[in-house]
Order: sequence, then structure tokens, then C-alpha cells
Amino acid sequence: MKKNIVLIGFMGSGKTTIGKLVSQKLGYGFIDSDELIEQKCGMKVSDIFNLYGEEYFREVEARVISEISDYTRVIISCGGGAVKQKSNIDSLRKKGLIIWLKTCIDEIYKRIQYNSVMRPLANGKSKEELEQMMAAREELYKKAHIFIDTSNKTINEIVDEIINIYVNQTPK
Ligand code: S3P
Repeated sequence: MKKNIVLIGFMGSGKTTIGKLVSQKLGYGFIDSDELIEQKCGMKVSDIFNLYGEEYFREVEARVISEISDYTRVIISCGGGAVKQKSNIDSLRKKGLIIWLKTCIDEIYKRIQYNSVMRPLANGKSKEELEQMMAAREELYKKAHIFIDTSNKTINEIVDEIINIYVNQTPK
């Protein structure tokens, strides 16, 4: 059975944009963990953080991830901090090929600046602070089966690279 594709990586690494395109090309479903959390809670991620705090957000995130880990033939885009709970990666790994989109801090910083209000953990952070957060998570992202360095690649190149890896690595 073909596995799911699970995209992990820091905020702004392109998981959602790339995941949607991969899903279209493969004819698979697409799930964004943050979007599902927002649907379940009936509010934006930033409001969940502001009203209930990170700990509550992580609880809902873990429930959502446990649920979507059981789906079949889907591309899953995970919030950047989903890797903080080992149980999330363990669930996703059962039926998924986990790919880390590795993006350099300069690119991340540029992208995040445009939409930091929607990213409570990045809001108001300097480039150095974000770099530290990224470094602290590096070991967690390394739990992916594969990593793709997205530097100097177009979105379409990254999408094709993911599809090639997927087609060649997972049995039918
Ligand atoms: C977070 C990343 C966000 C979202 C939440 C927390 C993080 O998702 O889940 O704001 O801890 O890195 P994106 O990576 O899609 O921005």
C-alpha cells in the first residue's frame, strides 16, 4: 500500500503550498494540521494561542495528528512545532513517508515577516531568535525519513523531487 506523504519543517518552509501541489499531481487528498485544528476549535491558530496558550494548542494538535495519521493516500502538512511531541512523529511514521523541507533562515525570515501575526510563536521575533528556535528543533526535524534542501529550488522542482522520491521509495 502506498504511504501518505508527511511534510514537516520550520514555519515558512513551504509545507502547505508544496503539499497542495503534490496532492494535485498525485490525485491524493490534502490535509493541513493547522487548518483542521482551526476547524475543530472554530478559531484561528493565533487566537487559540492568545486565549488558551501553547499547551492547549499542542493538546489539540496531538489529537488531530493522531486522527489524520490513520488516513490513506493523503499529503499531510504539519505545523512547524508538531515535531515537539514524539508521539506525533511516531503516529505519522506508521503510514507516512516523512519529508523534512529544510529551508535556510534568510528565506524563512523573509517569508515569515509577511505573515507573522498569524504565527504567534514567530510574532515579534528577531531573525536571531528565530534562528535559535530553528536550531533547537533541528534534531527533531532530523527524525524525518528524508530531507530536501529547498535552497535555490523552484516550487515545481521541489514538488517533482518529492514525487520522484515517493514513487521510487514506497511500494505500490
Ligand atoms: C508553529 C507553527 C505553525 C502553527 C503554530 C505553531 C510552531 O504552523 O502550527 O503557530 O510551533 O512552529 P506553520 O509551520 O504552518 O506556520
